[in-house]
Amino acid sequence: DTPELVDRFGRIARDLRVSITEKCSLRCTYCMPEEGLPPIPAQNLLDADEIVRLVRIAVHELGVREVRFTGGEPLMRADLERILAGCVREVPGIPLAMTTNAVGLEHRAQRLAEAGLTRVNVSLDSIDREHFARLTRRDRLPSVLAGIRAAAEAGLAPLKVNAVLMPETVAGAADLLEWCVAEGAQLRFIEEMPLDADHEWARANMVTAEQLLGVLGARFDLTEAGREDPSAPAETWLVDGGPATVGIIASVTRSFCSDCDRTRLTAEGTVRSCLFSDSEVDLRAALRGGATDHDLAQLWRGAMWNKWAGHGIDAADFTPPERSMGAIGG
Ligand code: GTP
Ligand code: 5AD
Ligand code: SF4
Repeated sequence: DTPELVDRFGRIARDLRVSITEKCSLRCTYCMPEEGLPPIPAQNLLDADEIVRLVRIAVHELGVREVRFTGGEPLMRADLERILAGCVREVPGIPLAMTTNAVGLEHRAQRLAEAGLTRVNVSLDSIDREHFARLTRRDRLPSVLAGIRAAAEAGLAPLKVNAVLMPETVAGAADLLEWCVAEGAQLRFIEEMPLDADHEWARANMVTAEQLLGVLGARFDLTEAGREDPSAPAETWLVDGGPATVGIIASVTRSFCSDCDRTRLTAEGTVRSCLFSDSEVDLRAALRGGATDHDLAQLWRGAMWNKWAGHGIDAADFTPPERSMGAIGG
């Protein structure tokens, strides 16, 4: 057995992303349908102990070095603190991050930090209250801004803000960047991928990294600063000479699949080798059927071995996966 999650193309997955719920407090158009995702039956959801066990296997048997909790919205789970504390006990020293919309984080940031959370990435597309409400279909901007401040105060650093590049977002992009620089958060813009629940994404309509750079360049002096590490999705630019930076995750026009180091666990306990996989490997059934750690690790290795070369968004026969972003976790 190799101690690592390797695929046919020689990539090694060291970054585990765990989706822990399909529920969300917002309804961003590029991610969730208006009515929300179909609820996962309770018995199909991994419980806290099952999640902690799989994280332990990923770290101890499979070489994972960082764990990120996603959703839906991870704050929708009341036992998030318990999951974190279990991970701290079983995999001490492994960074535990979360990608969140920050709604309600204000009241929980301190407790989460105490339970073992090390940092957060907050999804925030606009600091204009009306635009935010239109995009997310919920008027919760004040709660999000308070959540970001509380996270910073709780020491959850470095704090990053993610903004998906929608046409309306570009208009407010410079204001959002100014706000993030003042708050000491790193802002990253993300090209929209065809993972919206309504399947409205179209290559011709998407905003590209190139277009955004043109817009930001009119207000800021940007100097290329490269990637934090070779497998980081974001390329960065110094803002007005630094030290603040802005990042762009150009998943579509400058895809980084050949350097991908991710493996994903869904809330129902299946492994996805890629955001765009068309199949998953079920660990939950095996786990509940009495599989050993070794058996589970073998299943996980098999799932990753079959990972595709890349997302293939530009291929003529591209079809988006069944799961939308809200059901994968970004
Ligand atoms: P950091 O370690 O803080 O850099 O986290 P991250 O950027 O990996 O995590 P985050 O959840 O903030 O992801 C930001 C965005 O990057 C996601 O919303 C996706 O749009 C994009 N992204 C993350 N992982 C992948 C991936 O494996 N493939 C592609 N194509 N895009 C990804
Ligand atoms: N394309 C790119 N990024 C997306 N996200 C959600 N939907 C999409 C999409 N269609 C981002 C969110 C969040 C992360 C988990 O995924 O903004 O930061
Ligand atoms: Fe990795 Fe798939 Fe994302 Fe490409 S699309 S970076 S292969 S997860």
